[in-house]
Parts: sequence; C-alpha cells; structure tokens
Amino acid sequence: MTSASSLYLDLLARALVGDLRRDPDDARTPRAGATDGVNFSASHPPPGDTMVGLARLDSLRDCVEVVLREGVPGDLIEAGVWRGGSAIYMRGLLEAFGDAHRHVVVADSFEGLPAPSHPADAEMRLHEIGYLSVSLSEVRANFRRYELLDHRVEFVEGWFKDSLPALRGRAWSLIRLDGDLYESTMDSLTNLYDGLSVGGFVIVDDYGAYEACRAACEDFRRQRSVVDDVVEIDWTGVYWRKTR
Ligand SMILES: C[S@@+](CC[C@H](N)C(=O)[O-])C[C@H]1O[C@@H](n2cnc3c(N)ncnc32)[C@H](O)[C@@H]1O
Repeated sequence: MTSASSLYLDLLARALVGDLRRDPDDARTPRAGATDGVNFSASHPPPGDTMVGLARLDSLRDCVEVVLREGVPGDLIEAGVWRGGSAIYMRGLLEAFGDAHRHVVVADSFEGLPAPSHPADAEMRLHEIGYLSVSLSEVRANFRRYELLDHRVEFVEGWFKDSLPALRGRAWSLIRLDGDLYESTMDSLTNLYDGLSVGGFVIVDDYGAYEACRAACEDFRRQRSVVDDVVEIDWTGVYWRKTR
C-alpha cells in the first residue's frame, strides 16, 4: 500500500470515530471506543459515525489486509451497524487496498435492538436507548458523505433472525458481529459462520462488554467444537480466525 493510501485510512478512521472535531486537549482517548463507559450513556450518543474506537478499527484494517493478501475468498459483512461507521471503514479499506470485486454487506434492523427474548438477555435494556435506532436512509447517507456508496455496498434490513437466513450459502472472508445481545450474536453466528472461508475472521465487538454476547460465542464454539484462539483486541473486542 502506498503511504497516501495509508494516510487516507488513518484520516478516515479518525473522521469515523468523531476525532476530528474533538478538543485536542481532551484527555479521553478515541482509541478505547465510545462504549468504554466514559462517554457512553443512555442520554448522550457517541459523537462519531461509529462507537468502535481506533484500536478496533486498526484491528479491522489488519484483518482485511490479511484476507486480501492471502486471497481468502468471500465478501465482508457487519451485522449491527448503527450509523454505519465500521462498515463504511470496510468499504474504504477495500478501496485503499485496491480490491475491485468484494462487496460489503450492511445488516441491521435500522430500528434499534429487539426487546430481550432470550433468558441471557433478560437484564439488557438496550432496546430502550433511542439513539441506537438509525434508519436505513441515514446510514446510506453516511456512506454517501464519505463517497463510499456504490453497488458493492448491500443493505440487508430486518431482525437478524428473519433477514440473515437469506444470506446462507454466501461466502464470507470476514464477519463482524456487533449486535450486543445473546440472541443477536447467536443469530449472526448461526447464519453466517458456515459461509466463512477457512482463513477468514470472526470479529465480535461486545465480547468483553456484555456477558450475554460472550455467552453466545462460548455456546456456539462449544456446540460447533471451534477451538481457534480468541484474540483480544482491546477491553471488549475480540476475533478468531477460522482454521477448519
Ligand atoms: C452497538 S450498535 C452497532 C455499532 C456499530 N457497529 C458501530 O460501528 O458503531 C448495535 C446495532 O445492532 C443492531 N441490532 C442489534 N440486534 C439486532 C437484531 N437482532 N436484528 C437486527 N439488528 C440488530 C441495532 O439496530 C444497532 O444498530
């Protein structure tokens, strides 16, 4: 990659986390992400187009670079996109790394989280947080603002349990799961994991933040005898690489 492409990605990441308008003397670090408990609350939406901090965007960049360098087959998907920032970054990464074919699939209800239905989610109240509901037209407009909206960005609207089964049979090189709940994480894994190519990455954003999310990953891995190492990215994000 040229240094110009690398500079573009650095700047894109900082724009997406909302860092460009931050007071440079502010002691908070955009590296930890907006859900670090410091500036994330039910009444104050995070400032950027993603609540994923720079550390998780850096890791996403590394994963996409590996997938492209090694020719791991398949498209990229984020399940749970909020304002779209991480998925916008995925499309920017494909552009900067010179990939001309892969698609980015953007899956969300576009109306926030469902009320808990699985016992592991019983205490979760995220469906009551109004700003977690971002419409499809807003997310589409966000892609357009970064000039990254084209036919290689596909939107899949609906609750994961209804929408993701239609994606079975597709090949993925990277699946990024950011639906917070046990139910949302399990629905994503159940419908997407079989399509993930060997050598591809599963990224789970809320593994450290929410016990319910971690429990879904552990249950799924146990059920499917997945023994690939879970690698910590930061205080909440993890990934594992599919080896078989
Ligand atoms: C924490 S936000 C995602 C943050 C985003 N990845 C970012 O970069 O900032 C969670 C998103 O998941 C979506 N979501 C959670 N569970 C869902 C489900 N079961 N079906 C559809 N969308 C869901 C919500 O609508 C919300 O947009």
